[in-house]
Amino acid sequence: MKEVKIESTLYVFETMEELPKEAFSLMQKAFEARDKAYAPYSNFNVGAAILLDNGEIITGNNQENASYPSGLCAERTAIYYAGSQYPNTKIVRMAISATSKNKPTANPIPPCGACRQAIAEYEIKQKSPIEIYFMGETGNVAKSTSLANLLPLVFDKSVL
Ligand code: THU
Repeated sequence: MKEVKIESTLYVFETMEELPKEAFSLMQKAFEARDKAYAPYSNFNVGAAILLDNGEIITGNNQENASYPSGLCAERTAIYYAGSQYPNTKIVRMAISATSKNKPTANPIPPCGACRQAIAEYEIKQKSPIEIYFMGETGNVAKSTSLANLLPLVFDKSVL
């Protein structure tokens, strides 16, 4: 038996104001999307904004349902729309912000496992990294230079 260590790297900005200009404005789009989320059951609003390499920005937010599992996260709402409308256009970057009506969100809130898996699919498909910035409502912003950092041991088409 041998031990296998898996490492990944994240960068943390103290506040949103420290972000590179383009990431800052994409995060603002994520805020706008977040504030339009339909989340009456969890009171947890999430917004995602995606920059495509044709300059287009796609946004999405979480959409909940009285039948809970029928709802969808912000990241997948946005990325599936991007994939459906721009199947051959690469995704450059994604910005995500989450707020809760129940408690303050001042720490970076990472995308859930299912969303990481969905983003991974597109990163692998386009053969170039997708930058991910994520945060709560305020405070630190985390940056990953690739989805791969957030999902080591990805399940992908190579095993099928
Ligand atoms: N949610 C997202 O939109 N993205 C995530 O990555 C995690 C969770 C949503 C789903 C649900 O509407 C609410 O947040 C609480 O889980």
